[in-house]
Amino acid sequence: MEDLVEVKMLEEGIALLTLNRPSAANALSRELLHALSRSLEKISEDHSLRTVILTGAGTKAFCAGADLKERAGMNETDTVKTVALIGKTISALEELPVPVIAAINGAAFGGGLELALACDIRLASETAKLGLTETSLGIIPGAGGTQRLPRIAGVAVAKELIYTARKLDARTAQELKIVSGVFSPEQLLPEAKQLAREMSRNAPLALRAAKSAINEGVDLPLDQGLEAEKRWYQTTISSNDRLEGLKAFKEKRKPMFTGN
Ligand code: COA
Repeated sequence: MEDLVEVKMLEEGIALLTLNRPSAANALSRELLHALSRSLEKISEDHSLRTVILTGAGTKAFCAGADLKERAGMNETDTVKTVALIGKTISALEELPVPVIAAINGAAFGGGLELALACDIRLASETAKLGLTETSLGIIPGAGGTQRLPRIAGVAVAKELIYTARKLDARTAQELKIVSGVFSPEQLLPEAKQLAREMSRNAPLALRAAKSAINEGVDLPLDQGLEAEKRWYQTTISSNDRLEGLKAFKEKRKPMFTGN
């Protein structure tokens, strides 16, 4: 059987994760969620990891959210457990120590969009459609959508989108700052890789510290956020890469970072 999540290590420490269940629009079955958790755990232990790209197999869907066929056969207890499993897996994605880019190649509905919202940056194909469609199914977003979308797009926009269950095209999602770039289907992955490379050439410890400082500070009052920044800055002070950055500047050359 094909892996439900395909992991490819590309050049420069870029991991390409592909949700690989195209016959079911890459919907989040329990099996796929377990496969995704295992993949996240595995790549996060790789010290050469610099950036991650998450995408979906096929051209139709990035991820159609919860597996609605599987869900139809579940009792309330199993439904609650599965919603928690989706939430936990999406949080594990958010907590990856390196920058994560969602390359939204098609439909991203419900849990599929929640997955993308937990990534640091979202790029979309011009054929993509995005929506937190849960209220049209008698539920609410249960894997972070009610919390992450307002933080990304603002409270009023998030409320309108969640209350209406509206499906947005990629350009509208860009206008609302939910995605930061829209490309042709053929260009989406090359653009995501290009962005990943642009980040990967910077100092690995600095990238990790920057992500941690932003994520930790963003929900705190400014003074506490600034304290968090100070703490994360400190983690770069004794690094060889900081000294290499200074030396390379002086010698008018590109720095050679090692991640130490
Ligand atoms: N769970 C389980 N199976 C799903 C699914 C989901 N969330 N979404 C799609 N599928 C299945 C379809 O049932 C179909 O299977 P079949 O061939 O056995 O009938 C297959 O994936 C392809 O979907 P289909 O609808 O035929 O393709 P499409 O290109 O016309 O549309 C979507 C793709 C994703 C736009 C559409 O299927 C859709 O809107 N799905 C529902 C998504 C949703 O509301 N998610 C929110 C969950 S909270």
